[in-house]
Amino acid sequence: MEVTTLVHNIRRLYTLDPKSEGLGIIEHASVGMHAGHICWVGPAKEAPECKNIVDGTDLIGMPGLVDPHTHSVWAGSRSDEFAQRLAGANYADILEAGGGILSTVAATRAADLSTLRSHAQSRLHHMRSRGVTTVEIKSGYGLNTETELAMLKAADPKGLGLNVVRTFLGAHTVPAEHRNNRSVYVDHIINDQLPVCAPHADFVDVYCDRGAFDLDESVAILSAGKALGLKVRAHAEQVSHTGIAKAAAELGATALDHLEHIDEAGIAAMADAGTIAVLLPGAQLYLKDKSPPVAAFREAGIPIAIGTDLNPGSSPVHDLWAAATLSTLIQGLTMEEALLGITRHAALALGLDNVGWIGAGARADLALFSPPPGEPPIMESLIQHMGLPGAHVVLVSEPSEH
Ligand code: NIG
Ligand code: FE
Repeated sequence: MEVTTLVHNIRRLYTLDPKSEGLGIIEHASVGMHAGHICWVGPAKEAPECKNIVDGTDLIGMPGLVDPHTHSVWAGSRSDEFAQRLAGANYADILEAGGGILSTVAATRAADLSTLRSHAQSRLHHMRSRGVTTVEIKSGYGLNTETELAMLKAADPKGLGLNVVRTFLGAHTVPAEHRNNRSVYVDHIINDQLPVCAPHADFVDVYCDRGAFDLDESVAILSAGKALGLKVRAHAEQVSHTGIAKAAAELGATALDHLEHIDEAGIAAMADAGTIAVLLPGAQLYLKDKSPPVAAFREAGIPIAIGTDLNPGSSPVHDLWAAATLSTLIQGLTMEEALLGITRHAALALGLDNVGWIGAGARADLALFSPPPGEPPIMESLIQHMGLPGAHVVLVSEPSEH
């Protein structure tokens, strides 16, 4: 067997292999890679010969992390709105008054592609340094064909150094120029934006909520995206309950996100459709919202993923580890659920079954972490210590097409 890279003698490896028990822990493990894939996993003392060795001694090994929900491409700042919200203003009221997402739309339309690209690159560089190797990135701050397309191009995986899944979110909110005639904007998304943007995207998404799109508009947009071959997901039941979780699950949604206000019918439809629940504790915290019904997801057997929801308004959270820690503190996930949520379940939320776990055939994509000083080399150390003081990351990534 040919092995071109061997990550050797990892103190504790979490394979998260679906074929293994629990988290698939191997002590003193090695991982062999060839041609962009993992070809060998086992005890270090049985490792195959290899010239190119990465030393894993004393480190924690995991699959490269997967952030299943980000808005990493934007221009402008909303720190003024943060101050307003600290003084008591409400997120949906700010949006309905023409700020919020609309303020980022104005700044993003005014930016050129190279500015959007370089801002995104900086954000993604930081994510990679924390162990993230696959990231979902949405459009949604253009709300016209030209800028929606520019956002998707700014997220083009070529040269970004990580695996990117792109989502078209022209239905993020109704732009100022169409506020008095919403149906014109819905038609514009379906007839103009989607056909141009779909070849640059993997998913279609919609924000179905107060200040954004209603249920019928959302279903029409998701159906049009699906007809163009895009996978379906939605910002669902975030600020208010709309019924979109049930409707989108019935359309075959791969994942549904937020879900703070989902009801029993939505949960049952997600379970029937095999839809993944993507929880976004950063948005819950920044919007002072209630927790989604985690116990009900567990009971229904719905896999839970966790994302940063990185964006300049509702969740300026860049660090997926921080999101994982918050999911335990404010949403009641166990540490095991949090780890699965930022790896294998996050990959499933993106429709990927070859990342988020380590085993023969998976993508050659591994992250090594130091525990915080004085802590044992176990994943609990990483989740407990939000911000990982002193931790560093080594990535061994041989990206391949997904
Ligand atoms: O996931 N809820 C809608 N979309 C984003 C917010 C984006 C923004 O505020 O700029 C979210 O929370
Ligand atoms: Fe979002």
